[in-house]
Amino acid sequence: MIQFRSAAKFDKPFLVVFMEKSQWKAKDWPHIKNAPVHKLLEDLRGSGHFAAESAEIFPLATVRQAIILVGVGEKKDLTPTSLRKIVRGVFLSSYLKSAQAIEVVPFEQKDSVVQGIIDGYLIGTYVWDKYRTVGKAANGIKNREIHLVCLQKKLYEEQSAICNGVNFARDLINDNADEVTSTRIEKVILDLLKGQQDVKVEILNQKELKKQGLNLHLAVNQGSDKEPKLIIVKYRGAGKKDAYTALIGKGMTFDTGGLNLKPTGSIENMRLDMSGAAAVVGTLKNILALKPKKNIIFACALAENAIGSRAYKPGDVFKSLNGKTVEIGNTDAEGRLVLADAISYIVKNYQPKQIIDIATLTGACLIALGYDYSGLVSNDDVLARKLLQAANTTDDRAWRLPSYPEISEYIKSEIADIRNTGLPKGAAGALTAAEFLRQFVEDTKWAHLDIAGSSFCDGKGRFYYGHGATGAGVRLLTEFLRNQ
Ligand code: BES
Ligand code: MN
Ligand code: ZN
Repeated sequence: MIQFRSAAKFDKPFLVVFMEKSQWKAKDWPHIKNAPVHKLLEDLRGSGHFAAESAEIFPLATVRQAIILVGVGEKKDLTPTSLRKIVRGVFLSSYLKSAQAIEVVPFEQKDSVVQGIIDGYLIGTYVWDKYRTVGKAANGIKNREIHLVCLQKKLYEEQSAICNGVNFARDLINDNADEVTSTRIEKVILDLLKGQQDVKVEILNQKELKKQGLNLHLAVNQGSDKEPKLIIVKYRGAGKKDAYTALIGKGMTFDTGGLNLKPTGSIENMRLDMSGAAAVVGTLKNILALKPKKNIIFACALAENAIGSRAYKPGDVFKSLNGKTVEIGNTDAEGRLVLADAISYIVKNYQPKQIIDIATLTGACLIALGYDYSGLVSNDDVLARKLLQAANTTDDRAWRLPSYPEISEYIKSEIADIRNTGLPKGAAGALTAAEFLRQFVEDTKWAHLDIAGSSFCDGKGRFYYGHGATGAGVRLLTEFLRNQ
């Protein structure tokens, strides 16, 4: 929990003071309005033991207080990521192991700094330990009070709400695939909507999907004993005349690969394959907290790509909702199939002004960009620019990949209109997958975020994320929706 205070009181047993290097050198410490603490820092400065280098931590103690001084280095070298990493490092450090009440004093009150500290704490100290019986909340970080000094209450409230949305998505992704099924996600969404005014929800289950003709979506789910669902939440923050922006998330609650079964080494984390839908749900939670005056559709295309005697087969052809026939080149290229039908359904029934889909779509994107950037593909330069801008300000990184007319050649089929696979050896796999989706948006402005690499950290983690889901896309989409 982070709490807010508009002025530093220097009254808690633990005090975390951030210090910028030139500020430290010049003894320019407007944020230290407390004589004894000021004096202590002056003495330390005189000793030369602390230089406010990036991520340098120096513990000081008085009779009543432990003061943890944290360097952030020179302002010009500080990046959104490095600030968040520093903040995470301090709060996970052994100095604060037993701290229950901590006052936190930022080195300046710029929005980006305060946001960085809130992100660094709430996103940086998130841990998934539901299934641990030992070493739970290892650093005693769950229940402590953080009293953050912040001049703008609204900024603090909004940023903490946004981080809660990020962590909400992470919890959904990290839990077992057989826990977080389509039925469970439906319940989670309906719970979020309880008591909300400006929202309506439409849910297509197996029967409705069949009736409407979302045959690609149904094909993917054929091998599963769980219900496929397309859940559509309509949020109206603006008048009826304003067209919707539609978010559509890939929600493959588990991706075995289907009959083109994934091998050992590729299948273990495939509960992450609903990260796109989780990002949509996390963003929905944020939008319900921030209430922007926009009309927004939040759609989750939910299915499970399972194996078994009923599973759909490589080489089969299915007719999509918009009439295009699709040859199944590979049952493991299932995400584009459920998304294609969801896109068609939303274009047909809601005529949105723009569509953004988000999906753990291709291993190829992970190979191309690694884990630190989501891949962005778009048919509209203005939309792409706005999304990249939102990615930069939130430190939820994205990098644009090309879309061009000739690429449609690569997903042509001999026996159907198109095929769900592209070039041999997976060449340009992230681009051919995006091209498949593009062919269903018709004239709608569209952007696609491939979060296959960015949604999940294996091993110990990276940047300021620990092991597991990162919540990629939630901050980016929330920022975009607020400001577009
Ligand atoms: N869900 C996977 C993509 C993925 C891979 C996400 C690794 C996260 C980490 C997707 O459904 C998939 O299997 N894509 C295939 C497509 C191929 C068969 C054309 C891939 O990328 O290998
Ligand atoms: Mn797959
Ligand atoms: Zn998948």
